[in-house]
Amino acid sequence: MRKITICNGKGGSGKTTATILLGLALVEAGHKTKVLDIDPQNTASRWISDGALPLDSADASATVLIDTPPRLDNPDLKESIRDSDIVIVISSPSPADLFTSQDTAQLISELQAAGKTRLLFNQVQEGTILSRGLEETAKRIGIKPLNSVLTRRQCYQHAVLLGWNALPPKAKEEVFKIALEVASL
Ligand SMILES: Nc1ncnc2c1ncn2[C@@H]1O[C@H](COP(=O)(O)OP(=O)(O)OP(=O)(O)O)[C@@H](O)[C@H]1O
Ligand SMILES: [Mg+2]
Repeated sequence: MRKITICNGKGGSGKTTATILLGLALVEAGHKTKVLDIDPQNTASRWISDGALPLDSADASATVLIDTPPRLDNPDLKESIRDSDIVIVISSPSPADLFTSQDTAQLISELQAAGKTRLLFNQVQEGTILSRGLEETAKRIGIKPLNSVLTRRQCYQHAVLLGWNALPPKAKEEVFKIALEVASL
């Protein structure tokens, strides 16, 4: 079983959205995939209501994507970070997210997480000043960024409820790229 924790201490950074999109893409690519929702808000469990993605982690051969709460002092989050093969910190490129993303990076290093840690930029808007400074922002956060980013698209809000086919081809391609990059880490 491969465990992938998606985290950031900041609420609304896109943890649940990324967890579900990556899950949908991995299922589409033929990977056995499950979502484990350890956030007491239960957003992922509530959004995945149509059975598009199995919830729970009973299958030993599956990739498990773990959606986490926006609280760095949460013991379940810490255990998940320690236990995972891959930890994805998701952050917008905005200065407003910088400090919490740095704190998240600090926690991961304090916990001596054995898995690989990567940064996934979310809500990226092409052509903006922030989108041109991603490399520098990643350096300030202190985590190696994935090559691909998640842009801001309204269809992602639809897809978490309606499933993979709610995405137009360009969005599918974007999410596939991220999912395959994460799967090959
Ligand atoms: N790439 C994106 N494009 C458009 N909307 C997005 C994107 N990522 C996230 N959102 C929207 O931003 C809001 C917050 O996203 P989400 O719920 O995934 O964050 P979260 O980190 O799980 O929040 P919390 O910490 O409260 O659990 C949601 O309304 C979601 O639809
Ligand atoms: Mg959430």
